Parts: sequence; C-alpha cells; structure tokens
Amino acid sequence: MTTSDFSELTDFADQESPVQPPESERELLEIELLLEGVHRLYGYDFRNYALPSLRRRIWHQVHAEQVTTISGLQEKVLHDRACFERLVFSLSIPVTEMFRDPPLFRAFREKVVPMLRTYPYIRIWHAGCSTGEEVYSMAILLHEEGLYDKARIYATDMNGRSLQVAKEGVFGIQKMKQYTKNYQEAGGTRSFSEYYTAKYNSVIFQPFLRKNMIFAEHNLATDQSFNEFNVIFCRNVMIYFDETLRNRVHSLFHESLSHFGVLVLGAKESIHFTDYSDCYEPLDRVEKIYRKIK
Ligand SMILES: C[S@@+](CC[C@H](N)C(=O)[O-])C[C@H]1O[C@@H](n2cnc3c(N)ncnc32)[C@H](O)[C@@H]1O
Repeated sequence: MTTSDFSELTDFADQESPVQPPESERELLEIELLLEGVHRLYGYDFRNYALPSLRRRIWHQVHAEQVTTISGLQEKVLHDRACFERLVFSLSIPVTEMFRDPPLFRAFREKVVPMLRTYPYIRIWHAGCSTGEEVYSMAILLHEEGLYDKARIYATDMNGRSLQVAKEGVFGIQKMKQYTKNYQEAGGTRSFSEYYTAKYNSVIFQPFLRKNMIFAEHNLATDQSFNEFNVIFCRNVMIYFDETLRNRVHSLFHESLSHFGVLVLGAKESIHFTDYSDCYEPLDRVEKIYRKIK
C-alpha cells in the first residue's frame, strides 16, 4: 500500500460530498447515536470532533456504503467490522505531504535545532503522523543537522492502516516532484533523490532514516501520555476537534513536554483560546512554533 491509495481524500478542502441541507434535530440525533455506538462497541471516540467536517465525512460514508440515512450507516457499522474500519479511515482524513508548509521546516532549522544541539539526546513525538511523510521529513532534517543519531522519533496515529504505510516508507513516485520542491524551500542541503530509491511507480526511503523511528497506535481522544519529549509535532489534527477535545489534547501535550519543550501546530491551529495559552511563548508566531515556559 502507498499513499496513492489515499489520494481520493482531501483534508482542508474536504468538499467532495454533496452539500447537505442544514442539520435537523433528527440528523443531530442520528449522528450522536452513530458516534455513541462506535464508541461503545469499538472504543473509538469521535464524539468531540468538530461537527461541520464530521457531518460531511459521515454523509460521504452514507453514500459510499450505499445506504440512505445515517441510521442505515449505523446499522451497517455496528454489524460489520469492515464497514466500521472504512468509517474510521474516512473520518481520519490521512492527507499529508513531505515538508508540508516548507517555511515551517526552515524556521524549525533556524530556531529549534540550535536548542536541540545542546541536549544529550532528543525525543520527538509526531502525534497524528498519518502515513509518515512528516516523520521522514524530520528524520532527513535531523540527519542533515548531524542530530539524527541522538534522536528518537515516536510516530503515532489512531489509524493503523496509515501507520502501516508509514512503517514501510513506500510512497507514490508522482509526488516526488512536489516533495523535492518542498524540501528545497524548507532549506534542504542535498539532492532530495539521495534519500530514496525508485521502483516502478513507487519510491522507498532509505532504511537508515527508519532506524530511530518508533511507530505505535495512539488515540489522542482516549489514550494517555507515554513519555517525556523535547518536541511535539501535532499538525492539522486538532482542526477536526471541538474545544473540549482540543483542551484534552493540550493537557496531554503539556504533561508530555519537558521544560522548554517545543510544540509545533498546523498553519490553521493556535495555542490561543486554549486552557494552556499562558504556558507557552512563541518561538515563531507565524509558523506556530511554541516553547513551554511553565
Ligand atoms: C490531516 S492528517 C495530518 C497529518 C500530518 N500531521 C500533517 O500535518 O501532514 C490528520 C491525522 O490525524 C489523525 N487523527 C485524527 N484523530 C486522531 C486521534 N484522535 N488520535 C490520533 N490521531 C488522530 C488521522 O488519523 C490523520 O492521520
């Protein structure tokens, strides 16, 4: 499996489902019952995901499963594990790219790497890493800065299918042109093609990049902290959460970061308006890089 298999999904755009009429009381109840059933039967908790995108994804699955109502989808999901897994896959929106938002990676090199040089070892957590492009980008960056050997990169996601792709490090060859451009704009210092070998329509990333990566399923809605980190990346994940769940995740990150630990959020995310806004100072306000100060 490669990321090409996921190409039908989009994240911010998220617009492929036909527009639905405004939600009714009945529709909200059906969504609530579906999410409650999924939580009770399978342990996956989507109850605090933001409604607009959740609703679009659920309707997308109603059509994909060829049922006519959300209740119809609920019945199928509760009786057919494969249908439940397809729903999780659709709700997880595993869209990503290498060196996504190149200026962020450039800022990370300039503002965070000098701090990391002073540490005897470095632990980085990529929470919601999807198919791993962000994680391979980090491994390349640390390798070029001479820091990879003393780093451990923990890559987690709730979606086991995405993690499997991440572990294999096999990506679609058609994406390499864009990734090469991103890499150069992110301050890459070599030829990007040094890092992979092409085979038919795929590329496989060099095994040395994987040697300090640890992959594990972890659900930000239900699981606990599992280590102390110098850096946490959680980009383009919390945009899908409501305020309650965002605060839960910020509590988890605050607990998991060492003093002066660095938190990196997505372009459309912010530490402001969370319960933890006072606990961080910006290292780069535009690129959403924050440092824990209390
Ligand atoms: C749009 S992708 C972002 C990937 C990458 N961080 C990036 O910015 O390119 C969102 C990822 O968050 C994951 N995710 C969503 N809810 C999650 C949860 N509760 N716990 C862990 N991961 C979650 C999804 O499975 C998906 O892989």
